[in-house]
Amino acid sequence: MKIVAYGVRQDERPYFDAWQAANPQIELQLEPGLLDETSAALANGADGVVVFQQKSYSGTILQRLSDLGIKNVSLRNVGVDNVDAAMVKKLGMKITNVPVYSPPAIAEFTVTQLMQLLRRTKEYERKFAQQDFRWAPQMSQELNQQVVGVVGTGNIGRAAIKIYQGFGAKVIAYDKFHNEAIEKQELYVDSLEELYRQATVITLHIPLFTETTHMLNEQAFAQMNDGMFIINAARGPLIDEQALIDALDSKKVAGAALDVLEDETKVFNRDLKGKTIDYPVFSNLFARDNVLISPHTAFYTDISVKNMVNISLDSNKELIETGKAKNLVSFR
Ligand code: COI
Repeated sequence: MKIVAYGVRQDERPYFDAWQAANPQIELQLEPGLLDETSAALANGADGVVVFQQKSYSGTILQRLSDLGIKNVSLRNVGVDNVDAAMVKKLGMKITNVPVYSPPAIAEFTVTQLMQLLRRTKEYERKFAQQDFRWAPQMSQELNQQVVGVVGTGNIGRAAIKIYQGFGAKVIAYDKFHNEAIEKQELYVDSLEELYRQATVITLHIPLFTETTHMLNEQAFAQMNDGMFIINAARGPLIDEQALIDALDSKKVAGAALDVLEDETKVFNRDLKGKTIDYPVFSNLFARDNVLISPHTAFYTDISVKNMVNISLDSNKELIETGKAKNLVSFR
């Protein structure tokens, strides 16, 4: 059996090496480059591929794999919005993901970002760097006073809820699919409109679908309280970025923490030192004291990376051996 893994980073290598040592009967080929239309050929002779990238898995790429007889594709992450689902179905491919690698990794990051927004750390750091050590006028807000609206009560949303409750914040939640434990705590509100009306903070923990694209748009912002805080470590296109810029300008939104952006592959996880960045929305948001931008880094912990590597490889092996897998993605 042969598995080819694409986009293998140095920090992942020890986990790949350990898995290879535990599975000596499998030929594991590690490729540093991402899977694209050209590099697909490197998988010639493989029974499955393991991949990780924020760029799209286009129909052409999938077709190339299929032409090589490769139908088993295991993602080392959770989101599947960048996979051409129609092509997966057409080609009869099987895709697995890693639905749970470390929900607290992402939840803790988002809470950290909110606390930095509330305590205005970016403004203070800029001021202190200029040796201006006065307090005023950057008075902060307290987390325990917030009404945190959690959109999406899957594993990550629920991990975030636990942390917020530990800090004494009031939590309300919205999800089309109710979780029993959250229902028991009576945290659900009936509609997003109700969540917008009550919350002082909105944190997004939902996947990207057609119906969730630009869910935070001009109309949504208009329904919110003045001085809202917005946290998004899920997917960039959940927010209409121009509408967010307008809401920041009008002070409807007091601060935003964005770990994801609509066109993030232009900038994130790249070394752009000394380069001009041609992404006006990014530059606009990045320059603001009350906007924290991070390069899709919420997931990036030792526990997450280890689980992403091990679970994806196990899933690919399972697919190859049995034609089934616990983490098989069923596309809608
Ligand atoms: C995911 O697991 O889907 C993430 O968002 C992590 C990312 C760096 C691909």
